[in-house]
Amino acid sequence: KRKGFIFDLDGVIVDTAKYHFLAWKNLANSLGFDFTEIQNEQLKGVSRVESLKKILTWGETTVSEEKFQDLMTLKNTEYLEFINKMDDSEILPDVPRVLDYLKDNKQGVSLGSASKNARVILEKVNILDKFEAIVDGNDVSKAKPDPEVFLNAADAINVKPEDCIVFEDSVAGVQAANAAHMISIGIGSEDVLHEADYIFNDFTEISTEFINKLINN
Ligand code: G6P
Ligand code: MG
Repeated sequence: KRKGFIFDLDGVIVDTAKYHFLAWKNLANSLGFDFTEIQNEQLKGVSRVESLKKILTWGETTVSEEKFQDLMTLKNTEYLEFINKMDDSEILPDVPRVLDYLKDNKQGVSLGSASKNARVILEKVNILDKFEAIVDGNDVSKAKPDPEVFLNAADAINVKPEDCIVFEDSVAGVQAANAAHMISIGIGSEDVLHEADYIFNDFTEISTEFINKLINN
């Protein structure tokens, strides 16, 4: 049977959290306060605009609407400098193996990401062509944990939500997959992702047998 396999991007296909961290930290420092790795964790799966709102709250800082827009642009400009240096060596282990296996077995494969930079990142690491459809931060109005991004990603490959499987590294993303009535697979730590139907540390732990089970049940 043709199922739909929907991949989050940041933290699932590539580890871009480290670049988000550096760009947000520089921005916070320029405003006179610090930004920690622990705070960065809480921004996983969170859109750019919501991330900046949280950071300003943590820094107990308010800015004008105009300055807010400038900060968003500044952060993304710096983030893109890191992205521009990426290549396929930054694809997380065994992601290509799983993508190729799904394609060889005629499964639907799409991207469901909050990032507005999804296409450029997939191009940089040279796997854009592995996806039948891309649904990203430019296409949705409601952020995860709302299921919109995954429902659109299912629709784009013509697979019913209940026949979809989502790979996610964020709590909000797992909740979005569950809200869409899809099978949720958490990639990361069990402490964080316990709401997921299945949890793996990374794709090296995802066997062909397990994928076959998802395809056939
Ligand atoms: C993903 C990341 C978040 C990021 C968001 C928006 O969900 O996990 O950390 O803020 O995408 O990314 P963007 O590339 O549009 O700034
Ligand atoms: Mg993610």
